[in-house]
Amino acid sequence: MTSVLNQHSTHDHTCGELRAENIGETVTLDGWVQHRRDHGGLIFVDLRDREGLTQCTFDPELSGAEAFHEAETIRPEWPIQVTGVVRRRPDDTENPNMPTGEVEVLIHDVKVINKAKTPPFSIENGIETSEDTRLRYRYLDLRRPEMLANLKIRDQFTWAMREALHARGFMEVETPYLTKSTPEGARDFIVPSRQQPGHFYALPQSPQLLKQLLMVAGVERYYQVARCFRDEDLRADRQPEFTQVDLEMSFVTMDDVLDTMEEVFTEAFGKMGVDFPAPLRRMPYWEAMDTYGSDKPDTRYEMFLHDVTDVFRDSKFKVFASAANTEGEVVKCLNAKGAGAWSRGEIDKLEGVASTFGAKGLAWIAFRPDGSVNSPIVKFFSDEEMAQLRQIAEVEPGDLVMFAATGRKKADEILGGMRQHMADALHVERTGHDFLWVVDFPMFKYDEEEHRISAEHHAFTMPKGDLSLIETDPLKVGSYSYDFVMDGYEVGGGTIRIHDAELQMRVLKAMGFTEERARAQFGFLIEALQYGAPTHGGFAMGLDRACMLLSGSKSIRDVIAFPKTSSGSELMSGAPSEVTGKQLKEVSLRVL
Ligand code: AMO
Ligand code: AMP
Repeated sequence: MTSVLNQHSTHDHTCGELRAENIGETVTLDGWVQHRRDHGGLIFVDLRDREGLTQCTFDPELSGAEAFHEAETIRPEWPIQVTGVVRRRPDDTENPNMPTGEVEVLIHDVKVINKAKTPPFSIENGIETSEDTRLRYRYLDLRRPEMLANLKIRDQFTWAMREALHARGFMEVETPYLTKSTPEGARDFIVPSRQQPGHFYALPQSPQLLKQLLMVAGVERYYQVARCFRDEDLRADRQPEFTQVDLEMSFVTMDDVLDTMEEVFTEAFGKMGVDFPAPLRRMPYWEAMDTYGSDKPDTRYEMFLHDVTDVFRDSKFKVFASAANTEGEVVKCLNAKGAGAWSRGEIDKLEGVASTFGAKGLAWIAFRPDGSVNSPIVKFFSDEEMAQLRQIAEVEPGDLVMFAATGRKKADEILGGMRQHMADALHVERTGHDFLWVVDFPMFKYDEEEHRISAEHHAFTMPKGDLSLIETDPLKVGSYSYDFVMDGYEVGGGTIRIHDAELQMRVLKAMGFTEERARAQFGFLIEALQYGAPTHGGFAMGLDRACMLLSGSKSIRDVIAFPKTSSGSELMSGAPSEVTGKQLKEVSLRVL
């Protein structure tokens, strides 16, 4: 093997670049060996780099004996450097599927840069290898063209967002990762302090408070591509550390923020080849919940929820009548067109699906394509009830109508979950991208697990409407808030903030904070608000989710170079791992 350490200089072309117009040129390429094929005395090596593949040809006569013998030894995934002359491929060996498929390079010099062990999976698209193996050897997984393409999309979109924000006067300011624990909903990751035993930093769940302080400081328009840390249970669209394009603006109303974001999105998505339909639809929270059963509806397909509470007020079916006559409860239904032809067995399985969304049961009526009706509950219904149901839910033969009879929000969530399930099961077409704002979230929600009032977005959101309700009926208070929804995912969110210290304290108290605890946790914010805080509001985009949707990936892990598994492990390095007794002692900790 020729040593290349001293005389190695870089290539002059990439492996994705050569075309017919390069024929006759002498070129040098660096890359990895994709395949080596020995054919009738010739050796063909497909050389790969991040830009593509080029066929390199070794001919015992024309390449010279030394290069040819070297070519005989090389194996897939070895990095090599080759020099040769570009020539047209012989007739009928052209490959129209490859951008470089018209040409090949007749090699006269090859340098082996390194050898490679046989990889645990093939370096190509569409492999079936388990994700754990891919994560264990992530550097090999990322070599696969589809993974490198995802990283490229992420780079391009991040760059496009930065450019669009910078052009509008947003200034990038970095905020610390070692901060104070101010839980915003999720659990904090905490970091022990060596210098102050028993004291801890927290990694930020978002730069929320710091960006507000930057507004008090007069930065006026801030942005940051910021890493956020949340110790919560993971799903396909959640990671314990993820990235936000985070921003904040001073002296603005909600419309100013949304209009500015739409300009930024038009530019940034436009650069990704996605036509952004500004001005976006702004759908009130309750409209989204009531008609789609979700605060992040995918509006690319219909299949709406219908309220049939009034139909069943006097029903003989007690489950429905009882909900219809209980304050706060409803009877709602979802009409899945096409599923009316499903077998009884298939339909019966849906109750299990609904239970994952919190349903206690899932009453249903199958309107068979032949006009007959199949259902365990229709025997309870009068002709009048059936007629009204058919009218409200726009029933036709072939429809499956499913019901939820329970509290309003719960019914929406159950049927919203079923809507998505049925769309997948029925292969409802969802092409192109779908964008909208969901606006006017309630200020507070009731947290069933903790049995207390918590903020729907966060505690720093400006309440809307009659502020005396904060003390008297907090669940009725509105807010200046907005989520950015793309293809049925919450890809961003923001609010107008409270800029008045007294109002901030009232909101915290409504969430169960005592004055002392509010001051201990948020004293620095409340104090800052007293020094002339401007009106301000902002937004944070979940960059991982946006890139997942732009790249057509199924999971945000596919657009993160080194993601964690659902148990929070990083399989390549083996984090998290134990630390030494000395390290623990230094931070005054003992493991229980
Ligand atoms: P929020 O908590 O809604 O708002 O976060 C903003 C966006 O970040 C994305 N996101 C996540 N992505 C991957 N993994 C996670 N675990 C995760 N959690 C959230 C979502 C979400 O819409 N400070 C406020 C923003 C503001 O008010 O300006 C905030 O953090 O796409
Ligand atoms: P039951 O009379 O309890 O056997 O229920 C009859 C049908 O109604 C079954 O298909 C149940 O799944 C369904 N069901 C029960 N409770 C509810 C509910 N709260 N909402 C919708 N359907 C329900």
